[in-house]
Amino acid sequence: MTSALDSATAGGSAEEVDGLDAIMRLGGEELRERMVRTERHLESVTAQAGAPLASHANATVTAGGKRLRPLLVVLAAESAGGPPNTPDGEERLVRAAVAVELVHSATLVHDDLIDGAQLRRGRPTVAATAGRQVAVATGDLLFSRAFAELARNEDPAQLSALSEASSALAEGELLQREDAYASHVAVERYLRRCELKTAALFEAACRLGALTAAEGSSALADALGAFARRIGLAFQMLDDVLDVSGPVERTGKSRGTDLLDGTVTLPFILAREREPELAAFDMTSLHGPRQAEELCERIAATGALNEARELALAVVAEAKAALPAVLPDGRSALLDLVADAVVERYR
Ligand code: IPE
Ligand code: IPE
Ligand code: MG
Ligand code: MG
Repeated sequence: MTSALDSATAGGSAEEVDGLDAIMRLGGEELRERMVRTERHLESVTAQAGAPLASHANATVTAGGKRLRPLLVVLAAESAGGPPNTPDGEERLVRAAVAVELVHSATLVHDDLIDGAQLRRGRPTVAATAGRQVAVATGDLLFSRAFAELARNEDPAQLSALSEASSALAEGELLQREDAYASHVAVERYLRRCELKTAALFEAACRLGALTAAEGSSALADALGAFARRIGLAFQMLDDVLDVSGPVERTGKSRGTDLLDGTVTLPFILAREREPELAAFDMTSLHGPRQAEELCERIAATGALNEARELALAVVAEAKAALPAVLPDGRSALLDLVADAVVERYR
């Protein structure tokens, strides 16, 4: 999946068009302009901080990323009548989109430090290049810039939507640490973790879009938020499938990175239910990518990957089914395509 902005700025044959490309093309000039403005604003906000943090924050943001969350902000706003026709209507929308992506970037910088990850978006992580202290500070800076940006919209409802999501993210990361290397994790507990660390920010994205829009009532913000939450949950479930399924050419990281790190994800939980030998497997005995790859093969052999994929697809279907009732006059079409794009990456 390329980024929404690549799709906004680059050409490409029909064969190259993936889900986000299709959305950008169907979304037309306004959507394209809003995403381009979001991109520029992201770059300028991160470049403004003092050195050396600005360079790390700016490099994190400009390294790429799909911009799925800002896209959700903009599409949610557009499906709620678009930004109001006031002098700063457009700016308020862009600030919300930027704030969500900054929180996402902050969590990635911290997540990579916690996970000990070497690569992010095809480049060495901040933790790998500059060390622990700089990574902590860069993540903190990105968080604080996100809220400073959103505060300019002077809307407490927007600030609480984003702060709830970032509190959830912190809680989710802690839950993941608590369950590290656990011999048993219930599916419900795993789903709760995904809701906290990933789905909550997707929800905030759609909420913020609705809250900056001309016709965005709090009921509509709730409904769009509920849709995005399901999409975010499925997104994390499928990301966890990809960690086990690989291949590395597709994911940019070696198979079983989560397992090596002690993270008990859905494929492993389901495989353990199917295979007693795997249920007895001690994750602390895993050393190095080769052993992780072997464990991935054993998990795949149980059929757990397909089961996890099916569960995620059912969550996406649920989300899609709920949309038309919320947005009756065909406004849900592009959000529907975002749901498809989330799934498409894993086919
Ligand atoms: C990565 O999110 C973290 C997860 C929630 C799995 P994305 O896959 O959206 O990351 P970027 O922004 O496109 O790099
Ligand atoms: C998502 O979890 C990270 C956050 C939501 C902060 P992962 O640890 O699975 O994300 P990746 O795989 O590193 O992108
Ligand atoms: Mg990680
Ligand atoms: Mg992952």
